[in-house]
Amino acid sequence: MALQTIFLFSLILFASKAAAQLDFCVADLKSPATPTGYPCKNPATVTVDDFAFSSTLAVAGNTSNVFKAAVATAVVTQLPGLNGLGTAMGRVDIAVGGVIPMHTHPSGTELLLVLEGTINAGFISSANNVYSKILKKGDVFVNPRGLLHFAINAGQEPAVGIVSFSSHLPGLQPTDYALFGNNLPTQVVKATTFLDEAQIKKLKAAFGGTN
Ligand SMILES: *[C@@H]1O[C@H](CO)[C@@H](O)[C@H](O)[C@H]1NC(C)=O
Repeated sequence: MALQTIFLFSLILFASKAAAQLDFCVADLKSPATPTGYPCKNPATVTVDDFAFSSTLAVAGNTSNVFKAAVATAVVTQLPGLNGLGTAMGRVDIAVGGVIPMHTHPSGTELLLVLEGTINAGFISSANNVYSKILKKGDVFVNPRGLLHFAINAGQEPAVGIVSFSSHLPGLQPTDYALFGNNLPTQVVKATTFLDEAQIKKLKAAFGGTN
């Protein structure tokens, strides 16, 4: 009986020790990211600061830019303890007349909670159906992973939203920069979008593109 008790006890001890080793995999940000995340930092060097990040999410972002909007995040590159846990968050500020332009997060679904103001949020499905709605304070909206989506201030006061993601690093690809913010030749943009050359040049100038 005593032997059985000792056996059971050591089994529980072993099981809890084994489980503890799987609790987290704090990102070793010095190593290159892999499709599933960063390699784990040596657990012996992990501290509470790997799980905390003094962010700017509690204060309004600077919206003095072409979009009249600001985005702040808490993702794995800022908060290494998020590595592999499938979550991250952010804050969006959209001034009156501002917009979070069309973009995708290739790796993560986004939940948007409106804290202040009125936001016209929407996404476009891969069947090219549009799902958009005017959101008020307290409304929550989901942008499914990988789909093009946008958010426009649809009111007369600054809008504030909190976003959460289903990825430690959801990624961000704004369509304007994909098309007009790089060295993709004007002729290629023209051939693939059917826009006229003058408009493409104008947008390349606005978004820092060349060629
Ligand atoms: C906001 O950004 C603009 C443009 O970068 C800058 O000129 C301005 O000083 C910033 N304002 C604050 C309060 O940081």
